[in-house]
Parts: sequence; structure tokens; C-alpha cells
Amino acid sequence: MNLVLPPLPFGPSDLEPFISAKTLTFHHGKHFKTYVDTANSLLHGSGLEDLSIEEMLTRAQGPLFNNVAQAFNHGFYFEALCAASPAVPEALLGKINASFGDMLTFTELFRQKAVGNFGSGWTWLVESFDGKLSVENTPNAANPISLGLGKPLLVVDVWEHAYYLDYQNRRADYVKDFLGHVDWNLVASRL
Ligand SMILES: [Fe+2]
Repeated sequence: MNLVLPPLPFGPSDLEPFISAKTLTFHHGKHFKTYVDTANSLLHGSGLEDLSIEEMLTRAQGPLFNNVAQAFNHGFYFEALCAASPAVPEALLGKINASFGDMLTFTELFRQKAVGNFGSGWTWLVESFDGKLSVENTPNAANPISLGLGKPLLVVDVWEHAYYLDYQNRRADYVKDFLGHVDWNLVASRL
């Protein structure tokens, strides 16, 4: 199956001042598009063309893995952004409270893990196979599916291309603002 670049679920200026239209246009229209296009060109003749993207994540290696995983991770990231976070649905909030104590403790842990994720990578909220939630860092293109950690629910992109034009080296501020632009309804639908 050919991977497809999904359109942004909002206008290019809708997340300002959290993410500028310039960052969003480059991040979605250049970085994300290049991962999708390169993955599709490498998939041709790889023998993995007919798999779902989740299956590809556990089978692909090398440059094909990097591009398929970056395509998956970016789709997962952009899909759950919104202009202003709605209230966290009860089902998700109950799991967050059971796993972390309360919402504030979770968001502080998520922020600390994202700030401490050395170099380029991703910080995830993951539902493990026993139903417990955890916050996990992955380097480069890796993700919870490729590493067998469980089901991803939320991700923040901490590659510098995601925030450098707007925040320079202030990753902590970017992640703090990110947490005010999460579509918790969409995240809850991933449980
Ligand atoms: Fe990115």
C-alpha cells in the first residue's frame, strides 16, 4: 500500500502563537511529505508493500524503516493537535489518574521526559499491554510499535525542526505550550 500524506486537520495559522504558519508549512509540507515520498519509493520492490503501516514498522529495516516510521510518527503528531485543548474525557482521565496519580503529575512527567530526550526523537504517552499508561522516549524514528512497548496514544515531536523557528533552544516552552494544544478527544479515541 502506498503511504498517503494526510492534510492538516486545521489551517496553517490556527495554532499560532504556539506553532507559526511558517513552521507548520515547512514541517508538514516539506519534512513530513519527504518522509512519505521517500518511504513510497523505497517500498517499491521491498516485498512489504502490501502490509499495513503498523506491520511495516515491525518489519522494515534501515532507510525504509526510518522513512516509514517518520511518516507514521508525523501523522500521529499532527492528527492530535488543535487550536485549544478540550477537557480530557473521563475514560482517559481515569487511566491517567490510575497510572500517574493526577493530570498535573502526568503533564509534568511528560514535559520532563521530553526536555530530557537527548538529541532528535519523540516523547510518547503509551498504553502498555497490561493497560497501564507510561511516558516513553524514543530516539530518531523509533516508536512504541517498532519497539514493542504497547499502543501509542500521544506523541510530541522533539526534533528541532518542530520548534526551532519559533522557540530556538527553548524546548521546555515548546512542550509546555504543546500540552495546551492536544486534542484529548482524539487521544481518548486511541485507547
Ligand atoms: Fe518532525
